[in-house]
Amino acid sequence: MVTQQKALVESGRANDLGYKTFRLGGYEFERNAYFTIIRYPGGEYHIPVGEFMRAVQRDIGWNFFYGMVKFDEVFGTFNFYEKGVDMFLGKYNDAWQKSGKHYSEMFPNEKISATFKAILEDWVPPDFNPWAAPRETGSPFGRKRGGPHPAIFRKRIVTTTMIKTQRTDETHPVNEAFQDLRGKDGEMKIKPEYAERFGLLNLYEYLARNDVTWNPEIVSAVEYSLFCPTTEEYILPITHGNDRVEWFLLLNGQISMEVRDRDTGILLAYLHMKPGDCTAMPADISHNLWAPERSMLLVWENGNPQLPELIRLGKTPTAPLEEFGLK
Ligand SMILES: [Fe+2]
Repeated sequence: MVTQQKALVESGRANDLGYKTFRLGGYEFERNAYFTIIRYPGGEYHIPVGEFMRAVQRDIGWNFFYGMVKFDEVFGTFNFYEKGVDMFLGKYNDAWQKSGKHYSEMFPNEKISATFKAILEDWVPPDFNPWAAPRETGSPFGRKRGGPHPAIFRKRIVTTTMIKTQRTDETHPVNEAFQDLRGKDGEMKIKPEYAERFGLLNLYEYLARNDVTWNPEIVSAVEYSLFCPTTEEYILPITHGNDRVEWFLLLNGQISMEVRDRDTGILLAYLHMKPGDCTAMPADISHNLWAPERSMLLVWENGNPQLPELIRLGKTPTAPLEEFGLK
């Protein structure tokens, strides 16, 4: 498997700072002390290297997610699932579209994924954790000084049975920001013969132990209805362009949202969410999020793989209320 993955990656010799350069189709990725340089047939484009590595980490962690993952206003990926992943520059930016500077290239999921993983392995410093909030980690800058930080190899924990009432998990301590969080458990009365089949779990207690930021984890699945809570702090390292309606319920903390037209990047709205606020996002917008303190967000996704095609054919609404027959 490792050899197979390596065969998909094209890398060159290390530069003066000790970092390798990577090729992917018409793209070339190089890092220096502060920036990622992306060369493509139309020229070159630069992204601050910390933001780039945080975005790459999410894009791999989410397996390119639903629809568009923009690293900034210009560069990103669009997941077309079995058709592949489109890597683009300026394709969903009004100014770049008008000037004809945009470029894109479609790759098989495995190829782009292997290249992104190899970039992280070579570029992430030993003291910089791309999953962490800025207060929790070191600097992404400077010449190569070893690495990578072991967090880049983090895997989601897949449970094989229903999580019940285990309350102490030494490997996942409560985050510093949630030390004073006091939850009140619900009550469950159950016949003894069913005791093995049911359990109560305090979601706040569970999320307080989340060891990463901005990484939705599926905690319940009922057919295509997926509850994906996550903890957030600082800035979502990517802008997500939806390919389906998506719902957010803020459980605690604060979150500000910047909403843009998905295909042009033109700003449409700002929202400020307080605990208990719910937002429902249309299928044709993109959003970025800011959290001034560690916050808990419940993301509700419809995992139906047919949705992008149904939306394209106009067979399913793109606005949330229309899904329920409302205006
Ligand atoms: Fe989203």
